[in-house]
Amino acid sequence: MNRRVTKAVFPVAGMGTRFLPATKSVPKEIMTLVDRPLIQYAIDEARAAGITEFIFVTSRGKGALEDYFDRAPELEATLRAKGKTQLLNVLGATNMDSGAIAYVRQNQALGLGHAVWCARHLIGDEPFAVLLPDDVIAAETPCLKQMVEAYEKTGGNMIAAMEVAPELASSYGIMDVAPGVGRVLPMRGMVEKPAPGAQPSNLAAIGRYILTPDVLRHLGDIEAGVGGEIQLTDAIAREITQRQNVHGFRFEGQRYDCGSKAGFLQATVAFGLARSDLGEELAQFLGDMMVQRQAAE
Ligand code: UTP
Repeated sequence: MNRRVTKAVFPVAGMGTRFLPATKSVPKEIMTLVDRPLIQYAIDEARAAGITEFIFVTSRGKGALEDYFDRAPELEATLRAKGKTQLLNVLGATNMDSGAIAYVRQNQALGLGHAVWCARHLIGDEPFAVLLPDDVIAAETPCLKQMVEAYEKTGGNMIAAMEVAPELASSYGIMDVAPGVGRVLPMRGMVEKPAPGAQPSNLAAIGRYILTPDVLRHLGDIEAGVGGEIQLTDAIAREITQRQNVHGFRFEGQRYDCGSKAGFLQATVAFGLARSDLGEELAQFLGDMMVQRQAAE
């Protein structure tokens, strides 16, 4: 099987209930970290990894997401008339070439696995990446690029892996891997949200995957799993049983869970501090806040 990955699926059809009421009218993926929506971070990461075809799995109420990647002729004309070239360049990064982006609809939120399956006709018979925009990863080499490079050697399927504290394992898909020190870890199994104490390791799957069409076929056969949802984890577990060609990939970088409020706030602070135009002011403010807090205790 060809090991060039040029297609990526972005499942963005979830309801984002953890961010209600905001997500009543604003798609979670449009919420901004400093001044860029979550989805822009995911798109930039995919582009850096060589992705040229972007497939969004959307649902009702996600219109803002489609508009975000379109041209904005009036806005562009106004910026041009005012000579705001830098802002025009910023806007340029949000434009997608005609035909590079496709939208398919998941008409019922039946789970992440089902969302990926909805893209099957656009994926066809080649390996593809999946990026969950909720997981924002700050890394010197973007996470998916690290994976694509490793994948050229391994082939098969590859899933980003991160160590989590044992008490958090029941919130993740957990990998069963032989103990090892390298970045690429052959997987023996995978279990979605294991009961406390039943996790096969402390390595959790994070929202970056490179998958084969075989996993798509499993998604078409499996029954609903944990939470009554069609779980991507279950299709991957079946692929491990049948072909033993799934690897965990311990990426280098810091992952923020922007699907949770605490993670989103942490990412906002971290990305704000990293910005040359904001970092100093924000650091000063945070320092003052800490002093005030300690004085009040
Ligand atoms: P989450 O588990 O974070 O669900 O989905 P959610 O609906 O987005 O958020 P909460 O838990 O209600 O706050 C992980 C990823 O899978 C997508 C989501 O859009 C998100 O990118 N997803 C989930 C779908 O596309 N379809 C689904 O049926 C479920």
